[in-house]
Amino acid sequence: MCGIVGYLGEQNSPREVIINGLKKLEYRGYDSAGIAVIQNSGELKRVRAQGKLTELEKALEYEPIQEGHIGIGHTRWATHGVPSERNAHPHHAGKVSLVHNGIIENYLEIREQLLEAGVKIESDTDSELVAHLISREVEKTKSIFSAVKNVKPQLKGAYSILVLWEESPNELIAFKDGPPLVIGIGEGETYLASDVQALLNYTQKFIYINDQELVHVQFSKVQKQPSTANFTTETSKLSKEEQLYHVSKVTLYNQRFEKIEPKVATINWSADLIEKQGYAHYMLKEIYEQPRAVAQAAAPHIDLEKMEVQLDKVGFDINNLMDLEKLDSKKDFQSTLEVFKNIQKVYIIACGTSYYAGQVAKYFIEKNARINVETDIASEFRYRNPILSANELVVTISQSGETADTLAAIRLAKNLGAKTLSICNVKNSSIDREAHGHLYMNSGPEIGVASTKAFVSSLVILNLLSLALGKAKKVLNHDDEVIFLRAILGLPSQMEGILAYDKYFSEAAQKLKKFKGFLYLGRGVSFPIAMEGALKLKELAYMHAEGYAAGEMKHGPLALIDPQMAIVMLAPQDDVYEKTISNLEEARARGGKIISISTGENTQLQKVSEYYLSLPKAHWSVNPMLAVVPLQLMAYHLASALNHDVDQPRNLAKSVTVE
Ligand code: G6P
Repeated sequence: MCGIVGYLGEQNSPREVIINGLKKLEYRGYDSAGIAVIQNSGELKRVRAQGKLTELEKALEYEPIQEGHIGIGHTRWATHGVPSERNAHPHHAGKVSLVHNGIIENYLEIREQLLEAGVKIESDTDSELVAHLISREVEKTKSIFSAVKNVKPQLKGAYSILVLWEESPNELIAFKDGPPLVIGIGEGETYLASDVQALLNYTQKFIYINDQELVHVQFSKVQKQPSTANFTTETSKLSKEEQLYHVSKVTLYNQRFEKIEPKVATINWSADLIEKQGYAHYMLKEIYEQPRAVAQAAAPHIDLEKMEVQLDKVGFDINNLMDLEKLDSKKDFQSTLEVFKNIQKVYIIACGTSYYAGQVAKYFIEKNARINVETDIASEFRYRNPILSANELVVTISQSGETADTLAAIRLAKNLGAKTLSICNVKNSSIDREAHGHLYMNSGPEIGVASTKAFVSSLVILNLLSLALGKAKKVLNHDDEVIFLRAILGLPSQMEGILAYDKYFSEAAQKLKKFKGFLYLGRGVSFPIAMEGALKLKELAYMHAEGYAAGEMKHGPLALIDPQMAIVMLAPQDDVYEKTISNLEEARARGGKIISISTGENTQLQKVSEYYLSLPKAHWSVNPMLAVVPLQLMAYHLASALNHDVDQPRNLAKSVTVE
């Protein structure tokens, strides 16, 4: 879950490209960072520092790196070895410099082999060992490309690796199996990074590297010729250096080291989308972006004239060709309707916040389509030997599209013969590329480690999915469909109203932080929202919080209640409201302090609550998207009141690309 960046070219400063890129990747890990550049003098220079990227920037002031045209950088989330400067990347062995995201599983074996050969190992990491293997190989082959080619088959595990060699400053090698890696295409320059966000300031053209592929980037300067696009009649007046133009050649190889044709994709995210735009934190900005995010998620799938859900364009690319233009529609492509009609069971698989979205969807799909739904945490699903068949639909939810367990789960589901449908925010991400069918959250880049807008967007998509399944199964009539769609279309303005609670929570935070624990309770669709609310508090405020089904309280958690325990009760006025209120009374009778969230001016609840928040009156199916907003704000303000780093909570990372 580290972030890596590389640069080869002369138009930009490698140091600047790498530091800027790492800043955008800090969400992937932030316990130490480092950079290595082959300076114009020919010397390979490395600077590393423990702590966040700001520590590396300070270190660079004392120990400046001179300009060059090739460099690599890394921001770390420790797996092997404590966070320290010694364990920070880049790792050096001889004249080889390397950054690695992932885990080398056979590292003990490699370590022993290297120690036996008398190699001096400086860090506790698995990554340094790979640098040594390559360094030993390059001594023999005198080619960094051949050295990597020989070492790659010896590695087991998950990795994205960038390598450079001091002896050859015009070559950069990248290879991966597991964690994501993209190539950014510039004019005569090439960028590499763990994701596109790191490079949006420089390019919008990307090549997504697939597992087992190897990339050879070569840089050269060529004399301008009259036939080249860069030629001008003024060329002869230019200095010798100015008469040269830069060429950066990217060659891709598959697992068998055969050359393959790269596919270049253009991303329409602009660089300003990944700035804070005046907000104190990315998370707050993303909370405020939710009204727009839900509208963007819904827009491509609602036919406003007919008031119908439209998932027809999604379709299922049964052979997983991903290139819709090349599909032979009869052989390779099945329409959404064709697939949905035959679905007997749905599995929803995800991790973290995305998993709670899946749990809400169980209620949507079972009610609207009368199809049995099982939800699973991806790390459980992949190891429990699941039983799947062709008429079962496996839906994976992942903001990043890179979560290692979810990726493994979708691969397993495909191998077992099920139809797969991914709901991702990041297009072309690994999970997206793996699926037969594709839906998108469409919420724009999400940077804060704790997921917010991607959660509400996925709920909208899942709600629409339940309607499409319900129609395909002929259990949902058009009148009901219209009611659901109207509720979704009303969401943005209703959410705007709830954002007004921001001030309320920033004031309440000082009192709320004195509680020793929080119990979040709900029934029906509010139960997964209770769990999501508790997760937000754990992630951000580092306070103990539990999400529980309100009706299950009497089977254990009631014992926890005393006046230091806050009870966050989700009680929208839906068909289980009366039962929820009984549970609230049980908690209150035992001294718990109540924070309640219900619909409208609920005087009954206001009387018994320390804090009362009102949600706008809405259809049951959109209550989860509304009720989660105050819970996000509460966690955000509590964490801020406790002076925690909201965007980068301790020990966590946004995209978990290791098991
Ligand atoms: C990490 C993040 C969570 C996120 C989860 C799943 O734990 O901190 O915010 O919900 O991963 O991520 P995904 O990208 O698969 O939705």
